[in-house]
Amino acid sequence: MWICPACQSPLTLVERTYKCASGHTYDVAKEGYVNLLLAQHKRSKEPGDNKQMVNARRSFLEQGYYQPLAQRMAEVLEQFSRSVPASDIEGLAAERLINLFDVGCGEGYYLDHVLTRLNEHQDSFVVKGAGLDISKIAVQKAAKKYSASEFCVASSFAIPIPDASQQGVIQVFAPSSEQEILRVLDDDGVWLQVNPAAEHLAELKACVYAAPAEHKSALPVPAGFELCHEETVTFSFTLDSSDMRLNLLMMTPYYWSTSVQNTQRIKDLLTNVSAQFSLRLLRKNAGS
Ligand SMILES: C[S@@+](CC[C@H](N)C(=O)[O-])C[C@H]1O[C@@H](n2cnc3c(N)ncnc32)[C@H](O)[C@@H]1O
Ligand SMILES: [Zn+2]
Repeated sequence: MWICPACQSPLTLVERTYKCASGHTYDVAKEGYVNLLLAQHKRSKEPGDNKQMVNARRSFLEQGYYQPLAQRMAEVLEQFSRSVPASDIEGLAAERLINLFDVGCGEGYYLDHVLTRLNEHQDSFVVKGAGLDISKIAVQKAAKKYSASEFCVASSFAIPIPDASQQGVIQVFAPSSEQEILRVLDDDGVWLQVNPAAEHLAELKACVYAAPAEHKSALPVPAGFELCHEETVTFSFTLDSSDMRLNLLMMTPYYWSTSVQNTQRIKDLLTNVSAQFSLRLLRKNAGS
């Protein structure tokens, strides 16, 4: 599944080491992931989300606060797979395998949710999951908890998987390269993008900024893709403990710009929170 980040040739697993034909080697870590991040793709010693942010996100997500989003992502992908033309379904049924890749997977929550749901809800093919993140601690946690999928540490700007190898890519609040996603998707492959919409965490932002700016949501359709589906997912939830309020703050970039007083206000007062996400399903144009 992985390719060598140094020479792009396929990697073969021999015992617990991935090897390429040119002799580059990458050991599998005890949690089951492989680190394919080359020094030249690192801008700092420990890039990506740090331990504190990853732990906060894991604690928050496992309480199910964002489950409505994860469910909707699975439904949109499922809807797409049902709308594949019959001729293509025959092809898929013959292979009985759909590869789904999460770019910037964090601690793995969304990939696992979507994968589980897709595999439970249809029986014409099997979905196989994999993901990458540039944060080693995030990938460690993902691999340890979600052993049904494969994970690597890598940059989404140099995805270490072969051309046209994926039928679906998901990307939730993570940076990516449009060209890389185009490269790894097969013809008619789909890319599900999730970004914050205008009202996302409005109550939290009001505690941090005097005049909160709205998230920008109107993104252009990237070259090589067509827009199949677009929607806004809105729901609200209640945070009953100051720990959870702090977790929510710590998994956002606002944490770094919040004063000690505002952090305390959030811990004491932030109970009702609105979540709003923009979902887009893009399909690779055949021949791109
Ligand atoms: C807001 S978090 C979202 C994580 C996950 N998708 C989720 O929603 O739970 C953004 C993630 O992007 C990762 N990230 C940042 N820059 C990256 C890059 N160049 N390549 C891959 N991942 C990156 C961070 O480490 C972090 O895990
Ligand atoms: Zn190599």
